[in-house]
Amino acid sequence: MKNTYSYLISLILLLSFLSCKKEVSINTINIIPIPKQLKQNEGYFEINNKTKIVYTADNDVERIASFLSIDLEKRNLNPQFVTFDKNIKLKNVIYLELNPQLDLPKEAYKLSITNNGFHVSASNAAGLFYGYQTIKQLLPANYSKDLAFHHLEIEDVPRFKWRGMHLDVCRHFMPKEYVMKYIDYLASMKMNSFHWHLTEDQGWRIEIKAYPKLTEIGAWRKETLIGHHGKGTKFDGKKHGGFYTQEEIKEVVAYAKDRFITIVPEIEMPGHAQAAISAYPELGCTGEQVDVWNTWGVSPYIYNVEDTTFEFLQTVLDEVMALFPSEYIHIGGDEAIKKQWKSSKKIQRKIKELGLKDEHELQSYFIKRIEKYVNSKGRSIIGWDEILEGGLAPNATVMSWRGTEGGIAASKAHHKVIMSPGTHCYFDHYQSEDRDNEPLAIGGFTDVEKVYSFEPVPEELSKEEAKYILGAQGNVWTEYILTPDHVDYMIFPRMIALSEVLWSPVEKRDYSDFLKRLNVYREVLDREDIHYAKHVFSEE
Ligand code: ACM
Repeated sequence: MKNTYSYLISLILLLSFLSCKKEVSINTINIIPIPKQLKQNEGYFEINNKTKIVYTADNDVERIASFLSIDLEKRNLNPQFVTFDKNIKLKNVIYLELNPQLDLPKEAYKLSITNNGFHVSASNAAGLFYGYQTIKQLLPANYSKDLAFHHLEIEDVPRFKWRGMHLDVCRHFMPKEYVMKYIDYLASMKMNSFHWHLTEDQGWRIEIKAYPKLTEIGAWRKETLIGHHGKGTKFDGKKHGGFYTQEEIKEVVAYAKDRFITIVPEIEMPGHAQAAISAYPELGCTGEQVDVWNTWGVSPYIYNVEDTTFEFLQTVLDEVMALFPSEYIHIGGDEAIKKQWKSSKKIQRKIKELGLKDEHELQSYFIKRIEKYVNSKGRSIIGWDEILEGGLAPNATVMSWRGTEGGIAASKAHHKVIMSPGTHCYFDHYQSEDRDNEPLAIGGFTDVEKVYSFEPVPEELSKEEAKYILGAQGNVWTEYILTPDHVDYMIFPRMIALSEVLWSPVEKRDYSDFLKRLNVYREVLDREDIHYAKHVFSEE
């Protein structure tokens, strides 16, 4: 009897204890870009104040562990760090394992969540970083929510090698701090390439020690066109400009490297050169002293083809290559108006002397000569698709922007290609057809659905030719984008849609499922106070 009585008491106590234990809310699994394979299992794991971060002793991994620790600190945890050795008990841990022996491609990772905790593994540090980005997305956006996670297994690998975003800091200068924030945005979506458009008609933005006037003069314009060209064109009367010192550039390059992002600098030639010519008129074809351009469009001021101009460009490229360790240097090549070449006697003599047919062949000569120089320094060039005109430089990679045709032609000719067609990848376009309720933009219409529908590999290509498509990127030209806040509005959420195009397998792409995940991810944008376009969120 006594036994039955005490049994009952224990049972009551146990039941009341269980009923007092708070309900754990397990976080939804919501990952963008969607992983290649994801399997949810029975059970859940809860991170608590005893959970340790265990990591392979390696500088890159230690940095990734510290990124994760910052995320956990925001949730009032202060995890202990431990470097892995075989005596460590992998219980209640987040284990970041870098193991080159693993049979995983570069940038791939595996993530499992079990009773023992999280285990991310990768064969290179970039893969581990992407595994960390997935963990970061699994953490609830709301800092005060429970840290309970479904058991799961993920195997993930990017579809494309080049997952990029571009930013024009010439039409409107963007501070270094914002460029770093932009790099963080890219990292959060597992992108790996930042194309930094640094020279233009409207401003030269990189300090070149051999040619100080490029930034003393070329970085500043007296005023800027207000709105689109039209009747009664007006200017704002305000000086605009700015540039990055070499020290600042080094800082940004290192920041990007720490996040597994390669910065590809763009130094435009032979066109889009008015700011450089304003600083050094002898680089132009007319000898005129011009100002840095104050309006939009394409300036007719183009570099001449004197040996001294090539010496100038090579010196500039020497300094650029010393700052940027990227395999690729973007040399522009787009929209070079040939009018000044046509009307210059000197240039026409040069065309004859070189045995060339016309100005297109001269442009091709120009780009090939620069390519030879860049190649001699162990680097490769990328040019916009106009570099196909008049004959492609032998090793050039083509960035296809006037549609995909240039990219198709280049891959058929066995040149590497980055797709960036205006139709799907220009994030300076309007995001809504209701332009009256949108901030002024350059034109066009590219909404999230259109970006999401983009297929970087055109059907016209054979399997063999398709291998030349490295990937794609979104472009942000800033004629009508004056502030970082407005850049945010133009890239979010379009960049998020593009990240899934670039990372996830085609068969995993499902727009309505993407929208559901985006709707959850939106809480992160809100928490971070990021200005984003709301058209795709139906209730708005
Ligand atoms: C470009 O949009 N001019 C490359």
